[in-house]
Amino acid sequence: MSQPEAMALATSDKRGRASVRYVLLKQVDERGFVFFTNMGSRKGREIKANPYVSFAIHWKPIDKQVRVEGRIERVSDEEADTYWDTRPRLSQLGALASHQSAVITHREILTQRWLRLEQKYRNRAVPRPREWTGVRIIPDRIEFWEEEEHRLHHRDLYVRSRSGWRRQLLQP
Ligand SMILES: Cc1cc2nc3c(=O)[nH]c(=O)nc-3n(C[C@H](O)[C@H](O)[C@H](O)COP(=O)(O)O)c2cc1C
Repeated sequence: MSQPEAMALATSDKRGRASVRYVLLKQVDERGFVFFTNMGSRKGREIKANPYVSFAIHWKPIDKQVRVEGRIERVSDEEADTYWDTRPRLSQLGALASHQSAVITHREILTQRWLRLEQKYRNRAVPRPREWTGVRIIPDRIEFWEEEEHRLHHRDLYVRSRSGWRRQLLQP
């Protein structure tokens, strides 16, 4: 399992058109699931238009899948800064150089921009771009899927209600 924290994240625009891509799950706690990205990206724009998202993770070596649905909120600037500070300098420069999801005519434009930023911030901290932040998915449905014999897989669904989480078994 090379990257067990890779999750396929689905978003949709205000017309309901879906798009999916992998992102890395970086934090999990009682508040939800956090990944980091540039809010100016396609996914960022879609999340602003429709805050309901879904993700799935598949762990083949243990034959399990986890699916989550919920609403997103941007993490605080303090949380985003704390995580930004843990990133390697070269990744920080990459994030600063890239206007994620925008069209570019030549790759050299990007590498030149990266080189200029590398010079500029040679002896000082690389600032976090304002649009680069953490996004927390606050779950209201979580499904644990486990492969079983005869294709009779096990599916445990937890649905959040006002009184807490309700558990239901689903047919495979
Ligand atoms: C394994 C893997 C992990 C990735 N992790 C992230 C991530 O944590 N954040 C991110 O913004 N993009 C990540 N990417 C890149 C995204 O898949 C995607 O190309 C990028 O975010 C732009 O997506 P968008 O145009 O839909 O916004 C990852 C790609 C792969 C293959």
